[in-house]
Amino acid sequence: MKPIQVGLLGIGTVGGGVFSVLDRNQEEITRRAGRGIKIHTVADLDTKRAEELVKGRAKVVSDAKQVVNDPEIDVVVELIGGYGIAKELVLAAINNGKHVVTANKALLAVHGNEIFAAAQAKGVTVNFEAAVAGGIPIIKALREGLTANRIEWIAGIINGTTNFILSEMRDKGLDFDVVLKEAQRLGYAEADPTFDIEGVDAAHKATIMSAIAFGIPVQFDKAHVEGITKLSAIDIKYAEQLGYRIKLLGITKKTKDGIELRVHPTLIPTKRLIANVEGAMNAVQVMGDAVGTTLYYGKGAGAEPTASAVIADLVDVARLQTADPEHRVPHLAFQPGSMVNTTI
Ligand code: NDP
Ligand code: HSE
Repeated sequence: MKPIQVGLLGIGTVGGGVFSVLDRNQEEITRRAGRGIKIHTVADLDTKRAEELVKGRAKVVSDAKQVVNDPEIDVVVELIGGYGIAKELVLAAINNGKHVVTANKALLAVHGNEIFAAAQAKGVTVNFEAAVAGGIPIIKALREGLTANRIEWIAGIINGTTNFILSEMRDKGLDFDVVLKEAQRLGYAEADPTFDIEGVDAAHKATIMSAIAFGIPVQFDKAHVEGITKLSAIDIKYAEQLGYRIKLLGITKKTKDGIELRVHPTLIPTKRLIANVEGAMNAVQVMGDAVGTTLYYGKGAGAEPTASAVIADLVDVARLQTADPEHRVPHLAFQPGSMVNTTI
């Protein structure tokens, strides 16, 4: 079967990760998807840097509109970020009948209702596993693994940058600004890092999880949002002395009056698992009426962890499109090879 043709918009931190993981794990990904996944065209403002990364393996253009209007492209992967041009491009791709994969939580938390309605009208999918908690498959967990449950609440560390800042300030006594610069260098922070440190990014993610868990439209405007900029080293130190760790939590919860949605620094007893989630790691706890509490942990930011989630979405699109029923659902991709005998 012909490989699915992908248009990649933005080859920065995450886009670069998608390109290299697809390249490196092509064989396994093709087997699992039931067909190849080919980056047909990459659009980026910096075409010189894009050409250097792509090395002739895909077409490079500077005008992303060319990609969303290209009839040869099946899926558009939006990794530009923000609400401006990204929204325009995503809606244009949908209107042209293309599936969309995006990591853009800001776009979905604010304009998700419009985008999902447009996709539904056109019969295309918008997949966004990478938009929440980086490499942790939390969207799949909420939609698939926990689908039998009434979700009671979700609480999590869902911003890698702020968790990294709080960890480094506590462990190494470093200044806030120094650690933020390091988070930017490592590719964790948003283009506008005030979204991270003021809790806005975590609120975007909590908004998306809330909509999925409780079956409601996205309502970012209802969120209470507080970041970590008012915290100082002395707060972190005193919390430790009292047996607590300060974490920025995103919380959404069913109450008798409606759904709560909030982001704020929280004191967590140090003996709790979630208090020990360090650096750019994320952890999300979900309480379902049938399953009880479940906990999901992993890298919440950075090029390859995020690429892992973006590519999972691409594989889903490829499986949906394949004519071969064996590949329409996730399955064990059996292949020759046997296990070794394990002795302890
Ligand atoms: P980057 O800023 O590293 O990459 C964005 C890329 O898009 C840049 O190369 C930029 O080019 C390019 N770009 C900007 N405008 C256009 C345009 N009009 N047409 C084509 N290309 C354009 O961001 P990230 O890769 O970090 O993030 C991308 C998305 O993924 C964002 O929505 C972010 O929130 C999300 N995300 C990021 C994670 C991370 O760990 N970094 C994790 C999870 C989600 P130039 O640099 O020349 O401006
Ligand atoms: N800026 C985000 C973070 C990237 O630090 O968590 C991952 O969504």
